[in-house]
Amino acid sequence: MAPSVQTLPTSVSDEIYANVKWEELGFGFYRTDNMYVAKCKHGESFQEGSIVPYADFQISPCSAVLNYGQGLYEGLKAYRTEDGRIMLFRPDQNALRLQSGAHRLCMPYPSVDQFVSAVKQVVLANKKWIPPPGRGTLYIRPILFGSGPILGSLPVPEYTFTVFACPVGRFHQDNAGLNLKIEDKFRRAFPSGTGGVKSITNYSPVWITLAEAKAQGFSDVLFLDAATGKNVEELFASNVFIVKGNVVSTPEISGTILPGVTRKSIIELTRDFGYKVEERIVPVEDLLDAEEVFCTGTAAIVTTIASVTFKETKTEFKTGDKTLAAKLFATLTDIQMGRVEDKKGWTMELTDATTPGLKF
Ligand code: COI
Repeated sequence: MAPSVQTLPTSVSDEIYANVKWEELGFGFYRTDNMYVAKCKHGESFQEGSIVPYADFQISPCSAVLNYGQGLYEGLKAYRTEDGRIMLFRPDQNALRLQSGAHRLCMPYPSVDQFVSAVKQVVLANKKWIPPPGRGTLYIRPILFGSGPILGSLPVPEYTFTVFACPVGRFHQDNAGLNLKIEDKFRRAFPSGTGGVKSITNYSPVWITLAEAKAQGFSDVLFLDAATGKNVEELFASNVFIVKGNVVSTPEISGTILPGVTRKSIIELTRDFGYKVEERIVPVEDLLDAEEVFCTGTAAIVTTIASVTFKETKTEFKTGDKTLAAKLFATLTDIQMGRVEDKKGWTMELTDATTPGLKF
């Protein structure tokens, strides 16, 4: 489901917006003006970094990230509201997830305050790239990686924390809902591996499955657990939910499922609507028996799943305006876009004053 396209507010002018054809915005790389960089030597803590013009990095060919995949990324968004405010959604949750991943991958990490401050600075330094309300969002990409050279044994001498941002439109283009393929050969994560943290190494190893599924006409893949191959885990980059009657189920956080910030928020909103939410093992049979299926993620927001194909058999699910997914999408985006009062305390409003010393 996509945010509805609205008429541009009258305040849109060249002064406050970059020269972008907002209506053509997809979900791709867009070079913006500024980024944040902080470095940390082995045995030290991250100190305040700085905003610098967006540019390529110079990096050692022997760096830990290039040779051993020591890296994590996060994804969150900045939203421009109808009344001209700029909002972030739960950036502290991304900071905490980055910390948990850094622990798993043996890296020092920025404090929650440093993380949130870096995100705010990047948004304000790229303010004109935040799309007008209803036309998209500014996707923010914090990355933490081993930038120092390492050939043999630890320690890695240097780490880099960087944040950049790109204006984005919709992640999925399928208006009527996604058509998924259950991937029955490759697994995304395995017990005690890194599936539960946002390691950069979780993604490219399964591009092969995504490429094959897309070539066959599917929108995305749904992975099964590595231990038994019987239970559903998640899509390429989003969590999955199934609805049956008044019960909504989603795979439990067990080390192989990414603890999505949107997932956590949707569980809370679903409970507020009076549904029973179960975080549990979800066998493929339960998914195929569901009335409705949807996925959640920062990029995906809340997206309806129209069908799932498993071993050549296609099962269809309820789609459209009357689904729980539609209601959750509307409720979540109303909070994120500042269209309703945020009773949860999930949003953070940005003003230049929240980042002392910065002038834009
Ligand atoms: C996100 O939703 O932030 C993700 O990490 C998905 C990414 C593939 C765009």
